[in-house]
Amino acid sequence: MEWTEDLAVGVKRIDDQHKELFTRINGLVDAIRTGKCKETIDGTIQFLAEYALSHFREEEQCMADHRYPEFSRHKAQHAIFMRALDDLKKQAAEPRVKGMSYDLSVETNKVVVDWIITHIMRIDKKLGAFLRTGEMS
Ligand SMILES: [Fe+2]
Ligand SMILES: [Fe+2]
Repeated sequence: MEWTEDLAVGVKRIDDQHKELFTRINGLVDAIRTGKCKETIDGTIQFLAEYALSHFREEEQCMADHRYPEFSRHKAQHAIFMRALDDLKKQAAEPRVKGMSYDLSVETNKVVVDWIITHIMRIDKKLGAFLRTGEMS
């Protein structure tokens, strides 16, 4: 997956963080392709958990600062992804037998792709349009 300019929210820190997420997910896809799940998945899940916490917090602060009309809806979606990531973290902490790192990697990939498509490409993009124009699209 590739970050493109039309996904820009217009706040550099937020856009840089989105780009970083694309980079990480591409790294995970490479690991799945090359059979390196076991070496990659724990670090990826750890990254995602920390990333989401600070990224969501930052976006929510930005929405509050700009009195964004869809703040609570947007925030509720962040909470859904936090729960999905918590679940992945719990799974990662369980003992694993052969093949389970692969399954966990595929599931993690699914969660992040869903996050990019349903959230970044729609909900975050909508926030970006509001920050640029001062109006809801
Ligand atoms: Fe975001
Ligand atoms: Fe968001």
